[in-house]
Amino acid sequence: MKCAFSLSFNFAFVFLLFRCSLNLNNLHHYCYEAANSDPNLSNDFCVASLEANPKSNNASLEELVEISTKLAISNVTNISYYISQLLNAKSIDKYTAGALQDCLELYSDANSTLHDFILDLKSKAYFKANVDVSTAMDSSSTCENGFKERTGAVFPSTKENDTFFPLTAIIIAFINMLSRS
Ligand SMILES: *[C@@H]1O[C@H](CO)[C@@H](O)[C@H](O)[C@H]1NC(C)=O
Ligand SMILES: *[C@@H]1O[C@H](CO)[C@@H](O)[C@H](O)[C@H]1NC(C)=O
Ligand SMILES: *[C@@H]1O[C@H](CO)[C@@H](O)[C@H](O)[C@H]1NC(C)=O
Ligand SMILES: *[C@@H]1O[C@H](CO)[C@@H](O)[C@H](O)[C@H]1NC(C)=O
Ligand SMILES: *[C@@H]1O[C@H](CO)[C@@H](O)[C@H](O)[C@H]1NC(C)=O
Ligand SMILES: *[C@@H]1O[C@H](CO)[C@@H](O)[C@H](O)[C@H]1NC(C)=O
Repeated sequence: MKCAFSLSFNFAFVFLLFRCSLNLNNLHHYCYEAANSDPNLSNDFCVASLEANPKSNNASLEELVEISTKLAISNVTNISYYISQLLNAKSIDKYTAGALQDCLELYSDANSTLHDFILDLKSKAYFKANVDVSTAMDSSSTCENGFKERTGAVFPSTKENDTFFPLTAIIIAFINMLSRS
């Protein structure tokens, strides 16, 4: 690791650390910053999720947003597939069927929104991007709450439904960092 050296100010030192950690590994640096900006966001989850894509380690912030959005889209696709399977089961009652149908629509909207979002990103429309991802983020809790209200039961858990929400939180933290830079 090569770093330019300066003893002059604390400010310069902070800048130096920033530059060094950037050179070391962009992913760890950006996840650390994202987790710092949002108490609900885990640094470990961020690193573990994004590391699944080897490009993440040396990606720019823009590229990390795209990588995390693609992960969220693949999660949505999987959740939708899972809900369709539940809907196909003959034994479900009409309340469960209605609630699942709503969830399917919510996740389908979240999917379209995330696709729109990738376009917002290309045009650097960060404010709209933030609104889009926040809307997609709400889908999971709206689905969950609606399911509970209509059926009295908890929405059946999947690995993907548990990672979708925090993934969208990562995307939002990254966009906020982008719009500040
Ligand atoms: C963290 O989560 C809590 C409960 O879900 C929520 O009320 C709060 O607004 C969240 N904080 C941030 C910074 O997102
Ligand atoms: C990481 O990215 C920088 C700047 O984009 C590039 O110069 C460097 O070669 C990359 N390193 C690796 C290991 O890909
Ligand atoms: C869902 O997102 C997680 C990242 O948190 C990823 O590891 C997992 O592979 C994704 N699931 C699917 C089905 O793409
Ligand atoms: C998500 O949106 C894309 C593009 O609009 C579409 O091709 C795909 O079928 C959608 N997937 C789901 C699960 O809704
Ligand atoms: C997607 O969901 C289905 C049904 O829940 C599951 O069997 C499958 O393993 C999941 N796929 C991935 C790539 O996680
Ligand atoms: C996923 O499902 C589990 C079990 O019902 C639930 O506790 C959790 O809050 C859900 N997560 C999301 C993001 O919907």
